[in-house]
Amino acid sequence: MNIVNIIAKKRDKIELNQEEIEFFVNGVTNQSIADYQISSLLMAIVLNGMSNQEVIYLTQAMLHSGDVIDLSRIEGIKCDKHSTGGVGDKVTLVLAPLLASCGATVSKMSGRGLGHTGGTLDKLESIPNFRVDLSIDEFINQVNDIKVSVIGQTGNLVPADKAIYALRDVTGTVQSIPLIASSIMSKKLASGSDAILLDVKVGEGAFMKDIDQARQLAGVMVEIGKGLNKDVKAVITDMNQPLGYSIGNALEVKEAIATLNGEGPKDLEDLCIRLGSMMLVQAKEYTNEEDAAKILKENLYNGKAIAKFVELVKAQGGDQTYIEDPSKFEMASNIIEVKTDKEGYLYQLDALGVAQVALELGAGRHTKEEAIDYPAGIVLTKKVNDKVAKGDVIAYMHTNKETDEKLIKMLQDSLIVKDQKHEDTSLIKEIIK
Ligand code: URA
Repeated sequence: MNIVNIIAKKRDKIELNQEEIEFFVNGVTNQSIADYQISSLLMAIVLNGMSNQEVIYLTQAMLHSGDVIDLSRIEGIKCDKHSTGGVGDKVTLVLAPLLASCGATVSKMSGRGLGHTGGTLDKLESIPNFRVDLSIDEFINQVNDIKVSVIGQTGNLVPADKAIYALRDVTGTVQSIPLIASSIMSKKLASGSDAILLDVKVGEGAFMKDIDQARQLAGVMVEIGKGLNKDVKAVITDMNQPLGYSIGNALEVKEAIATLNGEGPKDLEDLCIRLGSMMLVQAKEYTNEEDAAKILKENLYNGKAIAKFVELVKAQGGDQTYIEDPSKFEMASNIIEVKTDKEGYLYQLDALGVAQVALELGAGRHTKEEAIDYPAGIVLTKKVNDKVAKGDVIAYMHTNKETDEKLIKMLQDSLIVKDQKHEDTSLIKEIIK
């Protein structure tokens, strides 16, 4: 087989077969195909797309390019969720213990990510001594013991994706539904869960800017699940404003703790209940989503969900007294009030703009090596459709750096205010089963 012929075939819009796709992925993994040839095929895929069958072959080949985690020693249906990346997205922190408190088995492997704000692992590490680096044996034992564990990806998972993503990043080939879908799904499937719920974000603050793109991405990922005999469902959810009020690692953990105590923001609680009820049905703990939603809500208000989070933190070496008394989390030294001079209704909060400010305050990383400042971030005071008047405080910036007027201006500019309310504020846009 010859890579040049494969590139030419895709250039000419001819469907690739399984052998050709495997030849490509093997060549990427063992470095026998040159970077310029890989990049050339990637660009042909961006321009000419792939059929669902081609994406399934690509995902399957990538998934087997490295370790595939065997979780068969964990009893029960292992469920996992994946978000395509939201600002202020602390859903895993709430959902993992909440689901476990309802009897589901949650074996969650998260990536660290190089986002504007930290990923789930960074958020968890803002709890003193919390370990995300459990061995697979420790992970399996913990899930069998207390039904839940959240760790970083271990082993050599999907090396083909690491190589391909590094090239996509520098060759203008990130924006492609077949490439995004196979990248996400190969990693999810290699980490060994039985049932996966995908939360595909749509809006200005997300990878997918409009509902058509989000629908296509979600549809392809669900098809990959079908093709590979896994129970995969997807929900398209709004990202035209951050989720909840807090952005930044320790600040988000505190908001998650409030939610697990039944005192969280409505959008975050609603999303957790909705995703959770689908996952409890996927996990075969309940036969219908209404009954599942009822028990999820009960556990947020009767202390069972927060008790499970305390158990999870303790099991992974974290200091659980911070969960019992969140005022113990260190605060940033500089808390800056940000006011607006606009009048009307909050129409949209540019989530990416807010995330960019949070990054500069210390909540994220510019490079893989950079350390995160856990207390840094933003606490918003308004949600879409709230009334806004001149002089209102719209947010508090938490930082250990000096006050930077440019960042205050950026945050003010991310607030879009209009005379009338936004008509569509639904959090769940569509469900794809
Ligand atoms: N997330 C991934 O893991 N891969 C992509 O290609 C895009 C988002």
